[in-house]
Amino acid sequence: MNRGIVPGETARQVSGQTRITGVFGWPVAHSLSPVMHNTAFADLGLDWCYVPFAVAPDSLPQAVAAIRALGIHGVNVTVPHKQAVIPLLDQLTPEAKAIGAVNTILTTEAGLLGHNTDAAGFKRSLLQANFEVRGKRALVLGAGGAARAVVYALLREGASITLLNRTPERAVNLAKSVTGDITAGALDLATVQSWADKSQLVVNTTSVGMWPLVDASPWPESVPFPGDALLYDLVYNPRRTRLVNQALQAGARYIDGLWMLVHQGAEAFNLWTGMHPSTELMYRAADQALGGKDAAISNGR
Ligand code: ATR
Repeated sequence: MNRGIVPGETARQVSGQTRITGVFGWPVAHSLSPVMHNTAFADLGLDWCYVPFAVAPDSLPQAVAAIRALGIHGVNVTVPHKQAVIPLLDQLTPEAKAIGAVNTILTTEAGLLGHNTDAAGFKRSLLQANFEVRGKRALVLGAGGAARAVVYALLREGASITLLNRTPERAVNLAKSVTGDITAGALDLATVQSWADKSQLVVNTTSVGMWPLVDASPWPESVPFPGDALLYDLVYNPRRTRLVNQALQAGARYIDGLWMLVHQGAEAFNLWTGMHPSTELMYRAADQALGGKDAAISNGR
C-alpha cells in the first residue's frame, strides 16, 4: 500500500552502510532514547540508527557478545543492567568505575569500553541553566543509583552536599564511599527543615512524585521550599511534579528530569559520533513522545 512517503524526506533507509546503536533494557518498550537519538541522527544527516533491544537479565551475556559479533557501534544500558554489565566489558572509564554503573558502551579497537554519561549529562544541564556549582551547597534527596552519579558530579565540581534518604544507612554508605564535603542523614521533616535555607540547589533523585502517584512529594509540605534555590527534579513523568509546584510557589527556578535524560543521551551520542546533537531538539522529540502533556518547561531561562 502506498502511504505517500516521500523518499529521502520522511523515510529513513537502513542500508549496508548504516551504523547501528541502541539500548539494552528490560522492559524497554517505553524508552524515549530511540526517538531522541533517531531524531538527532536525522537532524545531522547521519546514516545511523538507534534500536531498542529488550534484553532479559539472563540474556545479558549473549547480548553483550552480540555487540561484538554484529559490530554494533554503541549501546546504552539501562535498568536493570547498569551494574551487571560491568564484568562483561573490556575496560571502564574512571567515571563508570567511580559511579559503579555503566550506561553507555562504546566499541573501540581495544574492545568494549564501559562509560557513564549520567554525571556529565547532569553537569551539562546545570551549565545550560547557568547554575555555577562551585562553592554551593546541594541538598540531594535519595541515595540510589541516580544519586550516585549526581553526587559524583557535584563533588567533582566543588559543591558541598547534604544527602538525605528515607533509609538513612544507604545515604551514609554512599557518603562513605566518596571523597569530599558530604553529610548524610534521614529524609525527614526536621532534617530537611534544618538544611533547606542553607542550600542553593535541591536535587530529587527519588522516584517520589512519579506517575501514577503524582500527588506525592519528597519535600515535606510544612517546610517552605527555599525560594532562592534551583530545583532539579529527576522525575520527568510528569514534568510538573508536586515538588516542582512547591518550588514554583516559593518563586524558585527548576529543571525537569527530561533534561537529565536528554543530556546523558547527548553525551553518549557525542561519544559514538564525535558530534554534538541539538539538546533542544532531543528534548522536543522526547516531550512529544510522552504526549507533550506538560507544556510548561523551565530550563532556567
Ligand atoms: P534509582 O537508580 O532511580 O536511583 P533506586 O536505586 O531504586 O533507583 O533508588 C530509589 C530511591 O528513591 C531511593 O533513594 C529510595 O529510598 P530508599 O533507599 O529508602 O528505598 C527512594 N524512594 C523510593 N520510594 C520512596 C518513598 N516513597 N519515599 C522516600 N524515598 C523513596
